[in-house]
Amino acid sequence: METILLSGTDPATPAAAARLIRQGQLVAIPTETVYGLGADGLNEAAVARIFEAKGRPQDNPLILHICGPEQIEQFCHHIPQRAYDLAQAFWPGPLTMVLPARRVVPRRTTGGLDTVAIRCPDNAVTREIIRLSGVPIAAPSANLSGKPSTTTAQHVLHDHNGKIAAVVDGGACRVGVESTIVDLTEGRPRLLRPGGVTPEQLLAVLGDLVVDKAVTAQVDKDAVVKAPGMKYRHYAPAEPVVIVSGSREKAAAYIRRHFTPGDRVLCFQEELPLYEGCNPLAYGREADVNTLSAGLFAALRELDDPSVHQVYARCPVGGGVAYAVQNRLKKAAAFHIIDAEAEE
Ligand code: TXA
Ligand code: MG
Repeated sequence: METILLSGTDPATPAAAARLIRQGQLVAIPTETVYGLGADGLNEAAVARIFEAKGRPQDNPLILHICGPEQIEQFCHHIPQRAYDLAQAFWPGPLTMVLPARRVVPRRTTGGLDTVAIRCPDNAVTREIIRLSGVPIAAPSANLSGKPSTTTAQHVLHDHNGKIAAVVDGGACRVGVESTIVDLTEGRPRLLRPGGVTPEQLLAVLGDLVVDKAVTAQVDKDAVVKAPGMKYRHYAPAEPVVIVSGSREKAAAYIRRHFTPGDRVLCFQEELPLYEGCNPLAYGREADVNTLSAGLFAALRELDDPSVHQVYARCPVGGGVAYAVQNRLKKAAAFHIIDAEAEE
């Protein structure tokens, strides 16, 4: 199959992409977070193609992308007021809500669960594709399963060229890490995955938030978890990643002491001078965490190279969007963290 590259600025693109979606084909779509590998979320055969193309475990459910909050009721029931409050505050935007699923949503889409994850992305072209296709678009991140997410059309082509019908090129994704996921099916709202909508922003609207343990610690692959995707090894380049925490100077001293040829350093732009001769790669500026979230996956993909032995990574501290960057980096490192302050 030849994969067509559709320009996000071509006015004919939404209709062309929607036609392919209605035919049950796979179309990669840009969003503000990462590119999604989209298909008709109500068509079991089309959804099955997503799992096949990604090599994704069948029990890992997909997010349904809708074009406006008025569509929630078509796919969900028992919708609490706080779902409407969150939609009002953050949609279109990088927030996914888990709610009880209506029967119209195939169990193939929900990984067999009776809940469904739903979001309205902040990308006008993609919302127009959803509107014209007349169906919600099920879309996981468009990377091959287990690999770093795709934040450009070129990343998607790298993973899927010749295997999917089309990629809509919307340029580089603004947020760069996947959406925040909040489960609203229990008594208390539960954060399943941090993202561009921060815990602080959620708390301001909800007044209450439980952080799921899968956010902060490694989860056993046989464990029962709320977001099945959280238990799989994620975002990881081919070679081991270790996070080195601590002050700039202490971390650089530790890394330089242990660095051997073939290793790489993933650091902040401000730190580049400290790693001369250590093949450093900067993923953004520590002073602007949005550049770190936007650049993280492209950098992890660049490091996904068999010639790399070991990656030493620097991770931002604090809350806000840094919380999401920490979560992705810790998963890439399988929670392997060395405190340079304690390593004299
Ligand atoms: O930003 C994003 O959310 C991107 C773009 C394309 O929208 N999509 C994305 O999809 O990250 P994916 O499939 O890579 O991650 C979806 C996560 C998985 O961890 C999955 O287990 C969880 O959402 N999830 C989906 N449905 C769920 C449900 N009903 N209950 C709990 N977790 C669910
Ligand atoms: Mg993913």
